Amino acid sequence: MKAAITAIGGYVPEYVLTNTELETMVETNDEWITSRTGIKERRILKPEEGMGASYLALKAVEAMKKEYGVRVDDVDMVILASVTPDMPVAITSAYIAQEIGAKHAYAYDLQAACSSFLYAVSTAAAFIESKKYKKVLVVGSDVMSSIVDYEDRTTCILFGDGCGVALMEPNEDDLGVQDEILRTDAVGRNFLKMDAGGSFLPPSHETIDAKQHYIRQEGQSVFRFAVSNMADTSAEILEKNGLTGDDVAYLVPHQANLRIIDATARRMGLSEDKVLINIQRYGNTTSATIPLCLWDYRHQFKKGDNLVFAAFGGGFTWGAMWVKWAI
Ligand code: UT7
Repeated sequence: MKAAITAIGGYVPEYVLTNTELETMVETNDEWITSRTGIKERRILKPEEGMGASYLALKAVEAMKKEYGVRVDDVDMVILASVTPDMPVAITSAYIAQEIGAKHAYAYDLQAACSSFLYAVSTAAAFIESKKYKKVLVVGSDVMSSIVDYEDRTTCILFGDGCGVALMEPNEDDLGVQDEILRTDAVGRNFLKMDAGGSFLPPSHETIDAKQHYIRQEGQSVFRFAVSNMADTSAEILEKNGLTGDDVAYLVPHQANLRIIDATARRMGLSEDKVLINIQRYGNTTSATIPLCLWDYRHQFKKGDNLVFAAFGGGFTWGAMWVKWAI
């Protein structure tokens, strides 16, 4: 028995932050952003619209219910993948479970930086395959604008807010999650991080003054690790399962940088038409990139299609997953 995605949903907030608007905020320009990253605009959750990762999650669940006519009040497990949950300590997934009416669901939040959604799907699949839980809602939701310094041109151009959700259930026809390679390496601890706000450096007036509550990265180093690791595991998952680029219908990559995605696709021997991209519209939405891509391209998939999900993020965390589309 396999664990398959049986419905998908997505939501991005209304406010569109364009490269042109960013030009008025920091020393940057549309040409630099587009050529270095592929991003043209990103969505930002403004307080006038709503607050928190849970707001986006509930919107995405509504979209999923409308599209697929599924019930969610009977899910028995909710996993929130996020680096920006509503708040520390009181888990956001429990609130999401309550608001969708899943009275008997067991819930927890999972954090693996930009690989969070991949890790969450892996966890959900393991619970389903072990027959412990039957209907799992996996949520990838991030409000990156809550931890971005809009005076730092090296990060503020990259990130956006958004959410994608996936319902996962048992599948007896060999569809769903087939295999995965997930990795971590703490060499990344200093390259991509938010210095303050955790137990290592609790928040204080000093940390706020030093703007240590914002996400920072050493772009070039992260870029090098991302290119080699994401491409390596994506190629490795094909080799391990005796597949070639011809067998793959689509690569569903984490959307951090178009150049990282291109390098991964090249290593896998994939033509351009097999690579799903929406980075130009949303930027890097961290835990939401892969499910938002599935949501945007859902009408293109056929039952049985071989998809490869691939991600890379802080920590470092990375991995690739082979999924047979089941909808
Ligand atoms: O999802 C989590 C994982 N994260 C990633 O995968 C991100 C990986 N890194 C990257 O995507 C890229 O490194 C960036 C897009 C962040 C940066 O691109 P880059 O080609 O590595 O640029 P760079 O950092 O080497 O900067 C080149 C130049 C520098 O100027 P000098 O020193 O050459 O004079 C920067 O100061 O570009 C400058 N620069 C900018 N210029 C205009 C940096 N940011 C900007 C900007 N606009 N926004």
